[in-house]
Amino acid sequence: MKIFSGASNKPLAEKVAKLLNMSLSPIEHHTFPDGEQRVRLEEGVVGEDTVVIQPTGIPIDINYIELFFTIDALKRSGAKSVTVVIPYLGYERQDHVFRSGEARSLEVVIRTMENIGVDKFIAFDLHSIKTVEIFKEPITHLSALSLFANIIKDKQLIDAETVLVSPDMGGVRRVRMLSDMLRTVSVASIEKNRDLETGKITASVIHGNVMRRAIIIDDMISSGQTIAQAVTMLRERGTKEVWVFATHAVFSQNASTLLEKVEVEKIYVTDTLIVPENKRFRNLEILSVADMIAEQFKVQS
Ligand code: R5P
Repeated sequence: MKIFSGASNKPLAEKVAKLLNMSLSPIEHHTFPDGEQRVRLEEGVVGEDTVVIQPTGIPIDINYIELFFTIDALKRSGAKSVTVVIPYLGYERQDHVFRSGEARSLEVVIRTMENIGVDKFIAFDLHSIKTVEIFKEPITHLSALSLFANIIKDKQLIDAETVLVSPDMGGVRRVRMLSDMLRTVSVASIEKNRDLETGKITASVIHGNVMRRAIIIDDMISSGQTIAQAVTMLRERGTKEVWVFATHAVFSQNASTLLEKVEVEKIYVTDTLIVPENKRFRNLEILSVADMIAEQFKVQS
């Protein structure tokens, strides 16, 4: 088996390779002055099972193009199989047509990867449970919820005064799963609205009981507005302690500036995406999903 890393999260790919006692196979990424990209494998792959690790976070389109070219280079160079580990799947929120006239963007990028020749996908905490149904090739859907459950247990955050909160109605299933892992903790959810034109988010109603301690769970933090609104709402209703767990640190726009000011104990994210130094803040903690990815290849390596 050979592992290649895209340019978007090499530290994660390196960790995975190390856990498998392997090194990353060399690959050249070059960007021409006009922005076009060239990808070139620097090692033969004929008859090999190959793996590419490339989350498609910001800059999303650039990372996708690089991934498309890498898959093509592997197929063209005779790889026996190509497994794409895509820890963050860009465009996953456009998994259906919200308003007439829109594209189903997620389907476009998935079909493109499949048409180029991916044999298998490995993804993390997809936005919707139904996303797996868009894939025609096999997909393993991993989740960081078990990492979150371990931290919550270690820190003894669960007692009669704790509630797990989904900051939007779409995340209720995720919060229920975590509640089951933690042996049934009460859950609450917030109704939020996003203005499709401006992207502005407003939280309106909380379903469920507000407790002294709230643990907010989400799949991703992008602009940070969802978390900021949820924390404000919980605090206004009497919550004294708020913890946040979200798998993907997309951190678009000025998310980190916003999150830094939010009144929380800690915000836990994972390394499915790189969090650059300038986007890190005091109470941010980054957990690694490298072990979970490496586990997927232990039998093969
Ligand atoms: C939305 O449905 C997701 O689960 C996240 O809550 C959302 O994408 C976070 O976005 P933002 O950080 O921009 O509010």
